[in-house]
Amino acid sequence: MTDAPAAPLDDSSDALADSTSDASLARSVARSAQIEADLETNPGRYRMLTGDRPTGHLHLGHYFGSLRNRLALQEKGVDTWVLIADYQVITDRDSVDSIPERVFSLLTDYLAIGLDPARTTIFAHSQVPALNQLMLPFLSLVTDSELRRNPTVKAEQDAAGGRPMSGLMLTYPVHQAADILFCKANVVPVGKDQLPHLEQTRVVARRFDERYGRAGDRSAPVFPTPDALLSEVTNLLGTDGTKMSKSRGNVIELRMSADETARAIKKAVTDADRRITFDPANRPEVSNLVQLAALTSGRDPHEIAEEIGDGGSGTLKKLVTESVNEHLAPLRARRAELETDPAGLRRVLAEGNARANEVADATLAEVREAMQMVYA
Ligand code: TRP
Repeated sequence: MTDAPAAPLDDSSDALADSTSDASLARSVARSAQIEADLETNPGRYRMLTGDRPTGHLHLGHYFGSLRNRLALQEKGVDTWVLIADYQVITDRDSVDSIPERVFSLLTDYLAIGLDPARTTIFAHSQVPALNQLMLPFLSLVTDSELRRNPTVKAEQDAAGGRPMSGLMLTYPVHQAADILFCKANVVPVGKDQLPHLEQTRVVARRFDERYGRAGDRSAPVFPTPDALLSEVTNLLGTDGTKMSKSRGNVIELRMSADETARAIKKAVTDADRRITFDPANRPEVSNLVQLAALTSGRDPHEIAEEIGDGGSGTLKKLVTESVNEHLAPLRARRAELETDPAGLRRVLAEGNARANEVADATLAEVREAMQMVYA
């Protein structure tokens, strides 16, 4: 038996870097808007997958940036999948010490904000062997130069401060592709900066079908090519006016107490101008506090700034503290209640893992069949 030589992978076009070009961005934006509209009438057509690395506790940046959006999709009736990306923690750090605690903290936050295990499948990456096994065939579909060029890999590597790149870091886009494709998610909420990642997933899905797909039958692809859902990003900064991030000590975590929240807001950075205005370009710190009050009270930021006027940063901080604590109070109460039942939390995760395994096993079976690796 002779094998036809496989066509070499064509990674020359730099499709991924192109995904950040203006034309490509415009296409993604248009497609996303189309889906957003269709979601209203046909939520049942969509399976959404997203996730978080369990590296810390969720904070208000996550909450307004992505969590709220997930909840909205669940409420619309979209089949929602949320992955706790525990294996991804070790892309850039050595210790696995606090991973279990972080996994359960994430899960508790998810449930506290209203993700409902009956409608949203919450699972941990490491607990789904068949998902991870997709990595092997998928790795055959990418080249190392393509991975090195991936803007997201580059950015992650730059952020790692001179640390040698691990193989796991280099292949980040491939495991992310496995995460999305194992359950055949067709929409992935991302920020614009994450588009190259999603493009890599689309490339993997297409190449799988070109190379191994159901005996060359392209009319029934094994994998759908997922689209980005470019949700409007609420750019909430930390209490010092820079990106909200645990390592900068400027976060307000969902799990904090009302007192801890008050303290964090008290030490927030403001400026010398007593008059409060909402002017994000020129007064990022003050405007961010106004924004925080606006987001948590559902009011207009300009109106809030005007109302405080010459009241100064003391009045502003008092208002922000009250507004944040009031908004988070029910969530925090629910969180505290969930924490009293660790066995219940483990059960929720076990059920999510079981559902993910069922789907992953079925997909892996399809993959093996397409690849003619069925020997029984
Ligand atoms: N990388 C994402 C993060 O840092 C988490 C993640 C893992 C993810 N796999 C994914 C997000 C697949 C979307 C789709 O938070």
